[in-house]
Amino acid sequence: MMSEKKVKAGLLGLGTVGTGVYKLVQAQKEEMPRKTGAKLEISRILVHDLQKERKGVDASLLTDKWEDIIEDEEIRIVIEVMGGIEPARTMILKALDSGKNVVTANKDLLAEHGGELLDAAEDNGVDLLFEAAVAGGIPIIRPLKQCLAVNEIDEVIGIVNGTTNYILTKMMEDDMDFDEALAKAAELGYAEADPTADIEGLDAGRKAAIMASIAFHSRVVFSDVYTEGITKITPRDIAYAREFKSVIRLVSVAHNTERGIEVAVHPMLIAESHPLASVRDSFNAVFVHGDAVGDAMFYGRGAGEMPTASAVMGDVIDVVRDIQYHCTGRIHCTCYRSTPVKRFDDVRNKFFIRMQVDNRPGVLSAIAGVFGIHKVSISKVVQKNVTDGVAELVIVTEAVKEYHMKDALERLKEMETTREISNVIREY
Ligand code: NAP
Ligand code: HSE
Repeated sequence: MMSEKKVKAGLLGLGTVGTGVYKLVQAQKEEMPRKTGAKLEISRILVHDLQKERKGVDASLLTDKWEDIIEDEEIRIVIEVMGGIEPARTMILKALDSGKNVVTANKDLLAEHGGELLDAAEDNGVDLLFEAAVAGGIPIIRPLKQCLAVNEIDEVIGIVNGTTNYILTKMMEDDMDFDEALAKAAELGYAEADPTADIEGLDAGRKAAIMASIAFHSRVVFSDVYTEGITKITPRDIAYAREFKSVIRLVSVAHNTERGIEVAVHPMLIAESHPLASVRDSFNAVFVHGDAVGDAMFYGRGAGEMPTASAVMGDVIDVVRDIQYHCTGRIHCTCYRSTPVKRFDDVRNKFFIRMQVDNRPGVLSAIAGVFGIHKVSISKVVQKNVTDGVAELVIVTEAVKEYHMKDALERLKEMETTREISNVIREY
């Protein structure tokens, strides 16, 4: 069965993740034949800037022409760790169409064009694997597609962005300023090339779309996901979270309900006693609920050079094994249903609302009245900081449909006693 003794791979990109992949291929040189039955060689590496210094990398492998990889017939695996939609999409499609297997960490691309890429892989009988695209070093794609394949999964909830989790942890535990924490996350290799994708929740939204598609067997694309980032979270919100024995985290929430799929990414207050609250720094965690398995939790490093390279290399090793046994293209796209995605307005959430109001009699009861009219039930009220006749009011609600809360907030903003709605954060 084992006809091939050396498998050549081409690397598209040699940044944070690509460098980690290169290091692991070197480090595992001797082990690889024992693990897979074949040697693995990185025979070409595509970069943007040939002049950049790349310590420890054989410079003769570098190229700035993608054809050197995609048109090289000896290359059987293309490892795409460049990022972005184009030219990555075109390169991957060309690689698949020329019968090459592809491993990618590119969630931006998969969350928008995953269906097209998986179809191309199936048409060509090759592997397209992407474990590193969600939650860095944590195995979650393979568990969802394979280990938990028999389950009807109804819930996938987690912290899936290392950068924002690092920022929120530093703001909460070290009183670090947002910009300083973001700069450190970028320095540590956690942030995307454009960190707006991290802090505005887009990166986590893309991961949520990928996980929901696989878990619920129905294509969910990035534009289906409601996303809200962490840029509006202030030290004041964090102080209240502390007072309420909670933390604030960017959470990805996906449910498969009788009325459709609910999928969103937004900051949430989480009680300290909940396991998600103990997910700190660049760690990620994903909870899955399936009808047979019950609850399952996946936890580990969600970003960074070596954790992400570990996930990429797990896929590469699988592909080398598949090549050895002539069984590439075994696992196809698993989106065989067409479940509608619910409007976010119809999703129910609990809320934390911080607002500045006139400190005079009747204001609180008027606010409570507005909430009552809009079907919002209040679970907690805290009033503080009376300065120049203005009080800071924090109201925590029971679960209510998003559109009722939206309407209530609109009405509250119009009230002449409302100086400002300072923040609105969902509660887990
Ligand atoms: P990065 O550090 O910015 O590296 C990107 C690499 O791709 C660089 O080597 C760059 O070349 C090369 N490149 C980009 N555009 C190119 C083009 N048009 N032609 C040729 N080369 C090009 O990015 P990264 O952090 O390694 O991330 C790579 C991918 O992995 C992204 O899809 C990202 O979302 C994903 N990912 C990252 C992490 C993480 O923790 N960083 C975790 C999971 C997934 P130069 O070196 O010449 O600039
Ligand atoms: N920028 C991403 C993060 C990298 O911070 O989680 C891992 O996908």
